[in-house]
Parts: sequence; structure tokens; C-alpha cells
Amino acid sequence: MKETFYITTPIYYPSGKFHIGTAYTTVLADSLKKLHQLKGEDAYLLTGTDEHGQKIQQVAEKNGKEPQVYVDEMAAIAKELWKTMEIEYDDFIQTTQVRHEKVVQKVFERLLAQGDIYKGTYEGMYCVPCKTYFTETQLVDGKCPDCGRDVVKMEEEAYFFNMKKYADRLIAYYEDHPDFIKPNYRKTEMINNFIKPGLEDLCVTRTTFDWGIPVLSDPKHVVYVWLDALLNYITALGYDSEDDTLFQKYWPANIQIVGKDIARFHLIYWPIFLMALDLPLPKTIFVHNWIMMKDGKMSKSKGNVIYPETLINRYGLDAVRYFLLREMPVSQDGIFSPEAFIERYNFDLCNDLSNLLNRTVSMVNKYFGGKVPANQTHANAIDEAFETETQEYIIEFEKKIENFEIADSLKEIWQLIARTNKYIDETAPWQLAKEEETEKLASSMYHLIESLRKIAILISPFMKDTAKNIFRQIGITDLKLQMWETLQTNIALENTQVIAQGEPIFMRRKAEEEIEYLKNMMKN
Ligand code: ME8
Ligand code: MG
Repeated sequence: MKETFYITTPIYYPSGKFHIGTAYTTVLADSLKKLHQLKGEDAYLLTGTDEHGQKIQQVAEKNGKEPQVYVDEMAAIAKELWKTMEIEYDDFIQTTQVRHEKVVQKVFERLLAQGDIYKGTYEGMYCVPCKTYFTETQLVDGKCPDCGRDVVKMEEEAYFFNMKKYADRLIAYYEDHPDFIKPNYRKTEMINNFIKPGLEDLCVTRTTFDWGIPVLSDPKHVVYVWLDALLNYITALGYDSEDDTLFQKYWPANIQIVGKDIARFHLIYWPIFLMALDLPLPKTIFVHNWIMMKDGKMSKSKGNVIYPETLINRYGLDAVRYFLLREMPVSQDGIFSPEAFIERYNFDLCNDLSNLLNRTVSMVNKYFGGKVPANQTHANAIDEAFETETQEYIIEFEKKIENFEIADSLKEIWQLIARTNKYIDETAPWQLAKEEETEKLASSMYHLIESLRKIAILISPFMKDTAKNIFRQIGITDLKLQMWETLQTNIALENTQVIAQGEPIFMRRKAEEEIEYLKNMMKN
């Protein structure tokens, strides 16, 4: 049987336009899906929108819209962006859909009946105009952090989830499943900052607003937005519904990707909810860092926001996907700057990749009338070293990507690209042509095309169109030769014809002009 891979992104708050930071998770998730498909596996990608809660209700009001109308419009906008970014999701869940709400209600009743959820009293500092509770530590000078007005101590009846009961089991699970949390330091963070100091029971209902899923047995309460939202990962698969085929097929998820700000919800509450429901836990939850600007967080008020559409319209989708994935280290935040973006564009994409393709295609045309020479079995020392090192880069790529070191895995591909450019210098085909060393010249051309074929395979999950473009230009039309398993060996490229006139895939830009342009776009 084919292996299945279930990949999820967080479901987004539909509260505004998505900037490049928010797009990161989804680009990554989509790339991993495409990588698994490239390996011939069955991959399923879920994304969606997280539509309940007081904040969303307030934003809708500000926009003069009914909440449902507002969230539907926002979900449509999100889908439009994912289309532009060629995100191949299999399902898009909205938490206001009946398929989700019904199951959340059932789950709540079950947890209540089991005793995991109990009724108690919620106490907190309440801002009456904002209709919001705050903890003492959230207050600013004892006042509401949102509007600055006085808060009052209030209490109300509420339901709680008994987190304490599961704390030891959770730590034991972490220890027994070293792949559960990646990178590993997030696990230490959870244990030291949240679990060891003592897990508080979690308040899982609200009565101060009504934009949420009503509790079936006590409908003046609505379900807390995080309990509601986290369940999307299983309700989307039809868990506890008439048709749970997808749930049977895909749960537990292989990879759930989340940003660092929501790590606690996914690494503590989510596994505990699953334990309470007697369900297996996801195999890996991968926590990524944030894309920042030089002056900190992206925000409209700071005037330092960059939107994916801005970059895509000017530089193409693949440049944007490449930049995002390449600039995010595992252990710290990634930084967007116009300078860094243009540098990656001009050097990595244009100088290194596009020029390699261009030089190669024109040489195969010049020396062999465009026909790629067949596999050279009598490789010399230069060719042999090149072949060995190529395989080493591929192995390193695999190691890194398996460990979710995405930026580093792309770096391996670019090292292979650099190594291939170096191979041109080493073999000096122009010299070989002059000396009429036809066999060596043929071998050099064969190895260059073969390396470009491998490079195109490796980049295809991340930059699909660029990969397709390379395959087309080097004449690799057979889809089998574009698959992962053909990376292991050198393929005899018989009857392969490169295109007559190479086409640059990325064109060098004038750095100053582009930096100026991007700086202006960031202000709007
Ligand atoms: O948190 N760089 O939704 P959300 C990288 N609805 N990632 C970023 C980012 C940045 N600058 N800014 C935001 C929610 N993100 C909840 C999720 S899941 C059951 C519920 C990431 O719209 C953020 O870390 O606020 C999160 O993973 C995702 O965008 C959605 O954030
Ligand atoms: Mg957020």
C-alpha cells in the first residue's frame, strides 16, 4: 500500500489581509505535500479559516457586516491568495461550517459526560466596553490593554477542562516520542515554562459574547475558540460523522505545521484533547519561527508590511516561495528586507541557476546541435568526483528536509548548483572543443544536463514552474525522468534534445531601483 501523508497548516483568523509572514506556513506545507507526491506518496493537505470568537465578531462589526457574511468573504479572499501562490490544498475548512460545528458540540458533550470538562467559576478583570476578560498580568498600569479604561473584577459561571489530570501523561508522551515535537528545543520550552510550573485548568466556554458554537446542553455558553479551532484537524476528515473514510485513512497526521506563537496550544492543549478523546496523536508537530522586518514585527501601523501579491506581481511566484523558505532558519526568526530579497533574486536565482541553465543549453546547441550526448560510461576523474559529490548533496538535502531544516535543505540544492557551475570551469568545454576532445566534451555536456535534471527534480516541490521550465528547456519531457526515484542514478538520456534557443528563467534586476520600489510598497 502507498504511504499516506496528512499535512495541516493552522487555520487562519480571517481578520485582515495576509502578509508574507502569514503565507510562510502554507507555502511550507504545500512544498512538503509536493515533495511527498514527488516520492509517489499519497499526500493530503488541509488549511482553512478560524472564524469564531469575539475578535472576529468585532472586526465584522467594524466592517459593517454580519459576521457570517464577513468571514465568508474573507475565506474567499484567502482561497484566492492560495490560488495565486499555487497552494494545492485538498480541503479548506471554515469553522462556521455545519460539518465542524456539529462535531465540536458532540465532542464537548462527550468530554463533559466523561468528567474531563466540569462546571466552575471564572474570575478575571473585565473591561465592560470591550467585553473582554484579562488576567492581572495582561493589564497595562491596571487598565484595559485595548482601550485604557478601568477594569472591574468579575466572575461568571464557566466550564473548565481538567488539564492537570493529563500533565504527567503528556510529559511521558514527549519523552517516548522524540519525533513528536520539532525542533527539540520547543519541547524543553513547553516543559519548563508551562508544564513544570503547573498546568492550569483551561476555561473552555464563554458567555460574554455569542459568536461561537453553543454548548448543546447549556446554550448560553459558547465553546472557547481554541477548543473549537483545534478540532478542525479531525472534523475536516469527518471524525465522528456519518462518513469518516478520510479520518480512517489519514489520521493521525504526519506533519502539523504551526508558528511559534501558537506552539503552546498545539503542543499542550491539542495532544491533551486527543488523549481525552482516546485518539492517536500526530506524528510530528513542527514549530517554525517568524518572518520579521528589520525593525521588528510587520504591522500596518508601523508601515513595514509586505504582501505576497506585491512581490509575486513583480518577481514571479517562485522567487517569493524561494525567498520565504530560504530565509527562515530553524533556530531563529527570518528577516525580510528589500536588500536581501533582491540579493537572493540576482545571485541565487539569476547568476547561479538561470545562468547555469542558459550556458548549458547554448553549449549543447553549439557543440552537438542540441542533441544531448548519451550516458558516458568511461567517466574521467573530474566526472567521477562530480558524480560522487552530486549524490552527497542529494543525501544531505534529504537528511535536512526530513528534519524540517528547510532553509538548509535549499542551501544544499544551491551548493549542487554552485558545484555544477564549477564543473563547467573544471571541464572547460570551449577548450575541449578547440582540442577536438569529442568524447570528453560529450561527457561534460551529458553530466551538465543530467545535473540540471536532478536540480529541477529537487527544486520542483518548492518552485514547480521553474522546475517545469528547466525540464522543458533541457528536453526532459518523459514524466518518469522527473520523479524522485530517478535521482539515485545517472540516466542514459537518449533522444533528448534541448530547445534551440535558451530562455532566461530569471533576469538580473537593477538592485537600487528594486530596493527603492520595495521600500515604497512597504509604506502602503
Ligand atoms: O493563530 N511569520 O491564526 P493567525 C511567520 N487562528 N508566520 C507567521 C507570521 C510571521 N510574521 N505571522 C503569523 C491563528 N504567522 C489561529 C490558529 S489553528 C487551530 C488556529 C503564522 O491567522 C502564525 O504563527 O493569527 C500561525 O501559524 C499562522 O500564521 C496563522 O496565524
Ligand atoms: Mg496570530
